[in-house]
Order: sequence, then C-alpha cells, then structure tokens
Amino acid sequence: MINPRLETDLNDYPFARLGALIADLPVPAQPIIMSVGEPQGPVPQFARDVVSRDLATSNRYPPNQGTPDLCAAIVAWLQRRYGIADGVLDPARHVLPLAGSKEGVFAIGTVAVPPSKDGAQPIVMIPNPFYQVYLGAAVLSGGAPVFMNADAGNGFMPDFDAVPADTWKRTALVYLCSPGNPQGAMATLPYLQKLIDQCRRHGAILAIDECYAEIYNGAAPAGGLQAALAMDETGGRDPFANVVVFHSLSKRSNAAGLRSGFVAGDPKIVAMMLRWKTYGGVQIPIPIQNASAALWRDEAHVETIRGEYRAKFQLAKSILHNKGGYFTPDGGFFLWLDVGGGEAVTRRLWAEGGVKVLPGGYLAREINGVNPGDRYIRVALVHDLETTRTAITRIAELL
Ligand SMILES: Cc1ncc(COP(=O)(O)O)c(C=O)c1O
Repeated sequence: MINPRLETDLNDYPFARLGALIADLPVPAQPIIMSVGEPQGPVPQFARDVVSRDLATSNRYPPNQGTPDLCAAIVAWLQRRYGIADGVLDPARHVLPLAGSKEGVFAIGTVAVPPSKDGAQPIVMIPNPFYQVYLGAAVLSGGAPVFMNADAGNGFMPDFDAVPADTWKRTALVYLCSPGNPQGAMATLPYLQKLIDQCRRHGAILAIDECYAEIYNGAAPAGGLQAALAMDETGGRDPFANVVVFHSLSKRSNAAGLRSGFVAGDPKIVAMMLRWKTYGGVQIPIPIQNASAALWRDEAHVETIRGEYRAKFQLAKSILHNKGGYFTPDGGFFLWLDVGGGEAVTRRLWAEGGVKVLPGGYLAREINGVNPGDRYIRVALVHDLETTRTAITRIAELL
C-alpha cells in the first residue's frame, strides 16, 4: 500500500505536465530552455578551487549542524545584508546550513504542522502561484493547504487580512516567497511586520522563502529577520519568534548544483530543523560547506551576477515593449507574461520558436473556478545576454 498523499495528491509536478503538453511536438533544431530557474552562468572559480582542495575530507561525516566557519560566514552575511548588529545572531542557535533551501522549505512542514490545531486538521497557507515544494511539505506533513491568490489585483502579494478568523485559528504554517517566484514581487517591511504579528497572534510559524533576495532591479528587498527586529513589541519573546527565512547560493552565486543554503530565525524552530536533519536530512559535504563559506563572504561576484540580470531585463523590455503585459519585476529572474492562455502559447513557442517556457497555470491551483496563473507564461532569464536576445526576439515575434 502506497501513501495516497504521495501517489494521488502530489501527481502533477509542473515539469512533468510541461513534458506531456509538448510531447507530440518535434524537438526544435536549436532549443532554448527557459522553463527552469537554473542559472547557466559559471560557479565562481574561487569556490570551485575550494571544493577541489578539500575533497580529501570526504572520508569524514560532515557535521549536521554545519561547520562553525560556515555558520559564522552566514551570520556575517546576514548582518551586512540586513543591517543586523553584531551579537544579535548567534551562529550556533540562529542559523542552520541546508543542502539547498529546498530541503528547508520542505522540512519546515514536518517541524511546523502538529497532528491537529484548534481541534481540526492544521492549515498551511500557500501563495498561489507558488514553488511546488510548499505543497509537498503541506500535504506530506498532514496539513490542509489553503491557497492565497497572489495576482495583479493585489500586486502579486497575498492579502492575509482577508483570511477568516477560523482559518487563522487552524493555521500552523504560512509560506511567503519574497521576491516571489514567479512574479518577482517584493514584500515591504510593513507587510512583513503585519504578517509576523498575525502569525504570532495565531500561533503559526511564518516561513519566508528569500532565495531570490540577492537578485533585484531597484532597491534590495527587505527581509523577514530585519522586519522582526524592527518590531517594537516582542512580548518578551525571542526577537525572531515564529519567523524563519530561507536563503540559497543557487541563484545568488550561480551554484544550484552545490546544494547549499540555510535557514535562519527563531532558535526554537532552528533547533527542530536540526533535529529533523539529524533524523532524516542529509549533511552537506565539507568541501561544499567550505566553498559556501567563501561564497557568502564575497559580494563582488554577486554584484556582477545582479548586473547581468538587470541587463537582461532591460533587453527584454526593449524587445517586448508592452507585449504580454511586460513589466520589470522588483526581484527574481523571471518574466511573468500575460499571454491570455499559457498552455497554448507554450506549445506555439516550442513548435514555432524553439523556446521552452512554463505555462503559469502549472504553478498555481484553481480557486473558485479561476487559476491565477492560467493567462501567463513564466520565462526564466537564466542564459547569457545573446541567448536571451535570441529567445526574447522569438517570443516577441510570436506574441
Ligand atoms: C522559490 C524557490 N524556493 C526554493 C528553491 C530551491 O532552491 P535551492 O534548493 O536550490 O536553494 C527554488 C528553486 O528553484 C525556488 O524557485
């Protein structure tokens, strides 16, 4: 007997659906893959050097809690990035390195969802559209997903004020993604503070996925830890009570294959993440931890990468003008284009333009008969400038 939560409730991962959608079409001569958010730029050389240098440590089990050096590098980065004073964050209590932020946004489901809340099945609030791992975590931890539309009407950020009181009471976990995948909207400091307050009042954990925090077009996005620290009233709690944030080197450092990220925030939650990791997670190899420490300590490569994305957005804007309702997102590296029907346009772009994109509806769920992603395609600007130019030109021609 297979767990039906896995077999029947989680059977429509977007890339499997995309494969089925275009299965009958011939593979184009020179395809450009823009469906996957995998940066194609090089991993910085200094990080590769560390991995090769330290491979001999592979006869040892790496520590579950991360090396002290990596934890210190992460704390130093959080302090610089979010203006957090020395001594506020303890590397041993407030941060835990992860094998990619995916591990953490999944594990937080197990950590946060109890058998019942307010006498009923606990609720996990998920922005809609969303990174699919949130749903995996909600379903497999026994939670009931409640989807919160993030559409053009609310600036692509869910309206938590509209959540009924009885839903809040049952809520164990709230996911937020800022900058958001796919739309690139950024939560403001007041928005984050209000949400933190709502979660605390209702005994819910707030999990903020900040894996795109380093890729932005204007000002840097505010962060959850920064928001929590700037709140006047903690009611005697830890300043980060109920809040955890997830970060990653995958996008920041072109290092998706390193599998390196971290969780930071409420020490009680971080301790339970470590317990989860001890029982069922995977340690990060020591060479990867050492390379990660070097990457978190370096900003030069991040500025270069950010500049490359900005140039690609400028290029996309100059080619698309307002086709597909083009807008430059505040953050992240996706175009979120309103093309009327995401599936039909995805098929045409593959068949006639050789460009693979993702129908927006595959990232969302239908609520009250409407799927907020259906009209859209998601285009990942993960290639170099010239490949991006070719792809966007083909997209513009087809729209
Ligand atoms: C919104 C979001 N969160 C988390 C992840 C996971 O990233 P990683 O596990 O590589 O850090 C991704 C990857 O695409 C993502 O788009």
